[in-house]
Amino acid sequence: MARIVGAITTSHVPAIGGAIAKGLQQDPYWKPFFDGFPPARDWLAKVKPEIVVMVYNDHGLNFFLDKMPTFAIGAAGEYRNADEGWGIPTVKPFRGDPELSWHIIEKLVEDEFDVVSCQEMVVDHAFTLPMALCWPDQNWPVRTVPVVVNTVQAPLPSAARCYKLGNALARAIASWPKDERVVVMGTGGLSHQLDGERAGFINKEFDLKFMDSMVNDPAWATKYSTVELVELSGTQGVELLNWMVARGTLPEKVKKQHSNYHIPISNTATGMMVLEPAA
Ligand code: DHB
Ligand code: FE
Repeated sequence: MARIVGAITTSHVPAIGGAIAKGLQQDPYWKPFFDGFPPARDWLAKVKPEIVVMVYNDHGLNFFLDKMPTFAIGAAGEYRNADEGWGIPTVKPFRGDPELSWHIIEKLVEDEFDVVSCQEMVVDHAFTLPMALCWPDQNWPVRTVPVVVNTVQAPLPSAARCYKLGNALARAIASWPKDERVVVMGTGGLSHQLDGERAGFINKEFDLKFMDSMVNDPAWATKYSTVELVELSGTQGVELLNWMVARGTLPEKVKKQHSNYHIPISNTATGMMVLEPAA
């Protein structure tokens, strides 16, 4: 039986890819952000996952505004980077696990989550950067299952729905007969807004409360509508819905192994957390 050994949540700003390419991890601007990750890597070396279930939002590369699924799951043998903005770094393709993907898709649909299944899928910075932060040698030691959440075009799924999707993902993974260890990642956020009159908006008080709720009160954010979450965290801060899915895959009681919070990276308040099921 497969087992979820924990979750990593992190921001996913494209400029991080530029900083990695230029080797700026020790640069004063970047250091407080990159310093969040060695403890996550130590933890990964300890828990040794075979699988990463990557919960993120596509930014217009695989899906565009003309066709926008609320929830979609990759079922390909391989996923290639097709990132925007900072060029297409030559990162190795990510291995998929079509058999596990189809198991998850079947179980989710049985569980009344009618997801879109994608036998071809390109991935972007929201998938590739968390992988590169966790495995800087970019020799990906895991197979991956992409779970794509629409955080981009209204109507967005509610935080409550996202949390329940996480619960359903956990049931699907627990019923996978292979004895494998799974880490769930949730990427995006924390508060940021790239467009409109509030461009540059950041809400530290909300972010810190949200990060605390990930440990102590996982359903806390479900009391807000998606419009309220946009007001509180910004039009792109609402990517925290991906964190809600990841959190929903863990039991109510968790142990925080590590966290980091830093303002700003580009336009974003960055956060990361490593959570484990409580013993
Ligand atoms: C930025 C943040 C994001 O989450 C994103 O997808 C693109 C850009 C930024 O702050 O630059
Ligand atoms: Fe984003």
